[in-house]
Amino acid sequence: MKIACVGAGPAGLYFAISMKLRDPAHEVEVFERNAPGVTFGWGVVFSDQTVENLTANDPKSAKIIADEFAHWDDIDVHIHGQCITSSGHGFIGIGRKRLLEILQERARELGVTLNFEAECDPADPKWKDYDLVIASDGANSRFRDANPLAFGVDIDVRKNKFVWLGTSKVFDAFTFAFEETEHGWIWAHAYRFAPDCSTFIVECSEETWASFGFDRMTQDETIAECERLFGKYLDGHKLQSNAAHLVGSAAWLNFRRIKCERWSSGNVILLGDAAHTAHFSIGSGTKLALEDAIELAEVLNRDGLSLEAALDEYVAERNLEVLKLQNSARNSTEWFETLHRYLHFEPLQFAYSLLTRSQRISHENLRLRDREWLETVERWFWEKAGVPGKSAAPMFAPLKLRDMRIENRITVSPMAMYSAVDGTPNDFHFVHYGERALGGAGLLFTEMTCVSPEGRISPGCTGLWNADHVAAWKRIVDFVHSNSKARICLQLGHSGAKGSTKLGWDGNDVPLDEGNWPVMSAGDVQWSPVNQKPAPMTRADMDAVRDQFVAAVEMGIECGFDMVELHAAHGYLLSSFITPLQNNRTDKYGGSLENRLRFPLEVFAAMRAAWPKDRPMSVRISANDWAGDQGITPDEAVLIGEAFAREGADLIDVSAGQTWADAQPVYGRMFQTPFSDKLRNEGRLATMAVGNIYEPDHANSILAAGRADLVALARPHLIDPMWTLRAAAALDYRDIYVPPQYLNGQAQLARNLKREAEAAAAALRV
Ligand SMILES: Cc1cc2nc3c(=O)[nH]c(=O)nc-3n(C[C@H](O)[C@H](O)[C@H](O)COP(=O)(O)OP(=O)(O)OC[C@H]3O[C@@H](n4cnc5c(N)ncnc54)[C@H](O)[C@@H]3O)c2cc1C
Ligand SMILES: Cc1cc2nc3c(=O)[nH]c(=O)nc-3n(C[C@H](O)[C@H](O)[C@H](O)COP(=O)(O)O)c2cc1C
Repeated sequence: MKIACVGAGPAGLYFAISMKLRDPAHEVEVFERNAPGVTFGWGVVFSDQTVENLTANDPKSAKIIADEFAHWDDIDVHIHGQCITSSGHGFIGIGRKRLLEILQERARELGVTLNFEAECDPADPKWKDYDLVIASDGANSRFRDANPLAFGVDIDVRKNKFVWLGTSKVFDAFTFAFEETEHGWIWAHAYRFAPDCSTFIVECSEETWASFGFDRMTQDETIAECERLFGKYLDGHKLQSNAAHLVGSAAWLNFRRIKCERWSSGNVILLGDAAHTAHFSIGSGTKLALEDAIELAEVLNRDGLSLEAALDEYVAERNLEVLKLQNSARNSTEWFETLHRYLHFEPLQFAYSLLTRSQRISHENLRLRDREWLETVERWFWEKAGVPGKSAAPMFAPLKLRDMRIENRITVSPMAMYSAVDGTPNDFHFVHYGERALGGAGLLFTEMTCVSPEGRISPGCTGLWNADHVAAWKRIVDFVHSNSKARICLQLGHSGAKGSTKLGWDGNDVPLDEGNWPVMSAGDVQWSPVNQKPAPMTRADMDAVRDQFVAAVEMGIECGFDMVELHAAHGYLLSSFITPLQNNRTDKYGGSLENRLRFPLEVFAAMRAAWPKDRPMSVRISANDWAGDQGITPDEAVLIGEAFAREGADLIDVSAGQTWADAQPVYGRMFQTPFSDKLRNEGRLATMAVGNIYEPDHANSILAAGRADLVALARPHLIDPMWTLRAAAALDYRDIYVPPQYLNGQAQLARNLKREAEAAAAALRV
């Protein structure tokens, strides 16, 4: 094949090498606008896995690269005058300039033609003469931007400003240095990549950048200012830039997250940063570029594969990898963009939060890297929980809300069982809640228990409006209290416009075939075209519903519940007031957020007044309508959480969505936890995170990083009532309460899991 590679960055050069290695008959030419040796940036970081991939592809260049690697293990986090050091991180790095020299040399040796100082214009007709034109022309690709529709380009310009500098100061550890200045916080990411050189990236918010006047400074002035700001880390060494050639830039940039729906059009194929970028704070851009190059060369040279099939395979294979990395990179980018949230953390927790920011590194990963450091974090966590001197998984630490002590941080999230008759819980509920209480979770939520017959979602919902209900719930609560250490929280709600529907498994949100009851809501917005049109609540309706909630709270006291939660999420009655997507009122209960919160807050305050002062109350909210600016946004959720906290909410149960039938949720592991993080750390509220949290490691990472105070699991508890005891066995945590009847089972499980873990570790060592 006759191939042109536009750009002699890592992607273009390594693709040229990889093609020649597979078939020397390929004619490969590389065109680069800069002279050899002129490049932006300083060092790049790799993982061991990338080195293995390079070695498998071309042992010769991989060896030269590996021989020149700088290695380091420690991460130093400087914050508030302290330095927190953790170890075992195992980084390797190399200078970008040196990497490119090695690749150029290897490419020449294999017969690739390299043309420097050759600016390429996508409109030039000469590209038609090539079988393939590889657009390896970086994040600002002209070849991609000449045809953005064909590639389905999606560019997200991120908020922070950064400048990629270098220094002769040799950092022994990967160093994050955060400095508070009169203009705001500014920080550096610094690491050594050669015996005498380190990368030094300076980053800050746009506001801080403008306040410093960096927008008006020359490159030299910027460097002088950064040297002054970070002088104490530089030990007299200078900072340098090598981005002088970047057109019209004093080198400050905004990171641009790029992704493309399609990676080829005609004979042009995107490779590396031209197709996708990954934020520099997770250091994987070069890795992605090199691995793209290997994969593309591989499929293009595979016998019997048409060009079309080869490209399909290239995109399918690489896109998956890119999406995973971009997901982690987004978390990492956002962490730095929302730094203000974490600045009140103590330095140890701040460092933990920084290390786990991308969600790629979890609590147990950190244990593997640096056991001693992690145990320091755990000891700190337990001390904050009122148990000094103990070091164990955060999920087992107690929490106090008012006078209620919760034994550990795992809760059984509220889950409608659709199994009651006339609102009365029965033997199913007795066994269901009893089993989960025996399973070790610190706190159990009841399903949404409705305050009136019309407030039910379905005929199978539990209720609390008569003496039969009180007796049935009391039986359950008494069992929980006398047979476990779990506390039990009553979730009270009213279904609003989503009421009068079938049992969950007969059709979610589908009206009954017969026997429907009229529904009401904040406004007259139907949940969906098949649901009833609700009647907007009158003030008399509001009084009645508020009093029903209060009556249910009073019955909850009779039942002996430890805590009460108001369900103001998921599009049900109270949520229909809060979300503008359901609330089309024009009176003082509609319009502004303050107005929309008026009735839900009134209900909450009335419940709070009826509920004993020493017992806690929580509220469940939908922190994001997943409807962009049309609905509740996470920013507004902070205001909502704060408003309920002012009325006496001790915990915000941070759920999301289910408030609008056309919502566009973004699912994933722990997908709602960022909202809990936001409410907890911007609003300084106690929160509970929920949503696709299913491993003990998830829970421990969330808690230690201060993203929530409690962790709720719903579906995992449906299938495994013993989830918490099982986690205790897996983590060899012995201090959890195990019902005496089950002690032998717990001991056996712990033994077996320990044996399995030892066997797995031994297999890894072989
Ligand atoms: C601050 C910062 C820190 C980073 N840190 C790391 C890190 O630690 N680890 C890591 O793996 N990655 C890191 N990266 C990302 C990394 O630099 C890129 O992901 C990587 O360089 C992508 O390689 P590429 O070959 O696709 O593009 P590039 O390296 O950008 O190469 C593109 C080449 O094409 C040339 N070119 C562009 N247009 C034309 C044209 N029209 N004609 C001729 N030539 C052209 C350019 O001059 C350039 O040489 C970082 C990036 C930044 C901004
Ligand atoms: C069967 C089922 C019933 C649910 N019922 C309720 C409920 O009554 N009240 C409530 O607030 N959330 C309810 N939810 C939502 C869960 O509490 C939880 O927020 C959601 O399932 C996400 O957590 P998970 O990923 O751990 O399942 C229910 C979820 C399930 C799976």
